Amino acid sequence: MNQASDQARPTPRAGIMDIEAYVPGKSTAPAGVAKVHKLSSNENPLGPSPKAIEAARDVAAKLDIYPDGTARRLREAIAEVHGLNPANIVCSNGSDEILGLLAQTYLAPGDEAVITEHGFMVYKIYIQSAGAVPVSVKETNERADVDAILAAVTPRTRIIFLANPNNPTGTYLPFQEVRRLHAGLPPNVLLVLDAAYAEYVRRNDYEAGVELVAGAENVVMTRTFSKLGLGGARIGWMYAPMHIIDAINRVRGPFNVNATAIEAGIAAIRDRAHVERSVAHNDTWLRWVSEELTKLGLRVTPSVGNFVLIHFPEDKKHSAAAADDYLSARGYILRRVSGYGFPNALRMSIGTEEANRGVVAALATFLKS
Ligand SMILES: Cc1ncc(COP(=O)(O)O)c(C=O)c1O
Repeated sequence: MNQASDQARPTPRAGIMDIEAYVPGKSTAPAGVAKVHKLSSNENPLGPSPKAIEAARDVAAKLDIYPDGTARRLREAIAEVHGLNPANIVCSNGSDEILGLLAQTYLAPGDEAVITEHGFMVYKIYIQSAGAVPVSVKETNERADVDAILAAVTPRTRIIFLANPNNPTGTYLPFQEVRRLHAGLPPNVLLVLDAAYAEYVRRNDYEAGVELVAGAENVVMTRTFSKLGLGGARIGWMYAPMHIIDAINRVRGPFNVNATAIEAGIAAIRDRAHVERSVAHNDTWLRWVSEELTKLGLRVTPSVGNFVLIHFPEDKKHSAAAADDYLSARGYILRRVSGYGFPNALRMSIGTEEANRGVVAALATFLKS
């Protein structure tokens, strides 16, 4: 484009147009499919807590009133359930927002932020939005590699983004490894522990990050309500040292969490029975789906989240793309993950019993075809 046309309209600053926009999971099936099972966004197959639905309805009559800009009651409910100080929590419009605010606040043009080879994609987008440089490091066996991350740290590094467990692999780093990572970082490098799937992890050696945050000045933990039934409400939160809370509160939107989200969130987090049901359902069906797909001869990355990464054979007829078409035509919407470095895999969220059994049965037929 020549200079004259550059001046003829506003142009984004350097680097913005290099960003590859995030592509969310599909939610529709081809025309004519009677029933759609959306297994592409790691939502809760049990739906929202009935108490959250009721709370959201109650807000409807008061939608003229601005929400509390500090989401105090939501922070207090989170703090009560997790045994934290509400002053060390900031809520956000999904945890995506808080990840973006961290990048915007702690990265300057030319700075570096470390991400992992198959790490959650939004980190890269936010790093680039801040004009900084994403430095992607190799994983080992589809799991973050602490030594590789530490080796990538340079004097320009400002943030390490670690999804634990990671999406789309479902693998996790035991707490000892996270500690070792933190111990190897310079104190001015911020370690972001993205624990979006923490509720689903049932492993004795896993810790979402509370302990590390409490004892350090350079660690934050981000969490979400999206995976337990409130993806549409957009509620995320961060537990962080006071100096980081102070900085984020200066840059976030003054009413970044809306009134419906606040009330639905309070009701949802207090509904421990719904959380327990959701986690128990996942536990049963994560195991079943992983075993059944393995029996079909497919490789499944061992997952501790509410989804599995399924690897397909190399022959074109049975590739991930062919499987995706086959499943979509039958109403099962999975997630393609080429953008995550897995051109021949699909990510499947654990669904209802009907959906899980349906996918396994459909894939059994597909693989014989
Ligand atoms: C690892 C990870 N972090 C963060 C998020 C963002 O979740 P939300 O913005 O819905 O809170 C997701 C959602 O897919 C995720 O997989």
